[in-house]
Amino acid sequence: MALKRVFVTYRLPEDILRPLSGICDLEVWTGNKPMTPTELFSAICDRDGIICLLTDEITRSLLENQEKLNFISSMSVGVDHIDVAAATNRNIPVGNTPGVLAETTADLAFGLLLAAARRIAEADKFVREGQWMSDMPWSPDFFLGKDVHGATLGVVGLGETGKAVARRGKAFGMRVLGWNRTQKDVEHVELVTLDELLAESDYVSIHIARTSETLLFFDHERIMSMKKGGILINTARGGIVDETALANALKIGHLAAAGLDVFETEPLQARSTFLNLKNIVFSPHIGSATASTRKRMAELAVENAVAAIAGRPMPFCVNPEVYRSR
Ligand code: DGY
Repeated sequence: MALKRVFVTYRLPEDILRPLSGICDLEVWTGNKPMTPTELFSAICDRDGIICLLTDEITRSLLENQEKLNFISSMSVGVDHIDVAAATNRNIPVGNTPGVLAETTADLAFGLLLAAARRIAEADKFVREGQWMSDMPWSPDFFLGKDVHGATLGVVGLGETGKAVARRGKAFGMRVLGWNRTQKDVEHVELVTLDELLAESDYVSIHIARTSETLLFFDHERIMSMKKGGILINTARGGIVDETALANALKIGHLAAAGLDVFETEPLQARSTFLNLKNIVFSPHIGSATASTRKRMAELAVENAVAAIAGRPMPFCVNPEVYRSR
């Protein structure tokens, strides 16, 4: 029997891909840039499976034209780049990489929170640019920020990452409020309504997935119902926050600052109004970017592919219902 043909859209290290050697006919993208939609389309035509990244948009129209495709394994926990409903319609299992990046992402969320509260990026720039001069070596109101200890942290979404951020908040002596779409008891977290959370939190950290229901979830009204002087942290997904509304709230001083790792359009466009605002701390979608976490994510993506090639259910599958109809 001919080996299954599998395409990988990024040059993952050989040792990570080793479990696939001999069990499939493997082809790996060798380009230095993410694949264009046309390249992606022609690369997966006639393939049995694909291992992809969150930068690969697997749309409904791309799936409609694939006769053979039998699995999609994404090296990400979020799958909003894949039309999962369309994949499910065609009985294609979609794999992801849960459980291995929550702590790493929570570290970055907390890093952004601290940096935004204590203006660390702004202060770093101030020193580097030679603005720290002897006529103003120190003063009582120089670079004032906000306390983190003793403040209230609101965690929106109590999945693995939200809970990991809540634990960090507790360890910093914060009062921790939490809201989740479905009721969930979490140690050290006071469950409140979303309105209460927004009104009472000095810091709000977002940890919900991007779905059709959460697009622009943080709209003008929700942002303006945050406590005055609050700080918003987003390491979840772009598109959940209305960027125009957030820029406005930061400009008029309703919010003191924001820490953002994810954006509606990535990379952040040079014309983005965010770039003119000093009270935003940016990072370029690096929530899970540590060597060991990325290795674990790649291993899980390969583990999913190995199972699919062997005709077994993927161990980490977002649409397991496809196996019932197989
Ligand atoms: C994911 O896996 O969805 C993350 O955004 C990667 O950092």
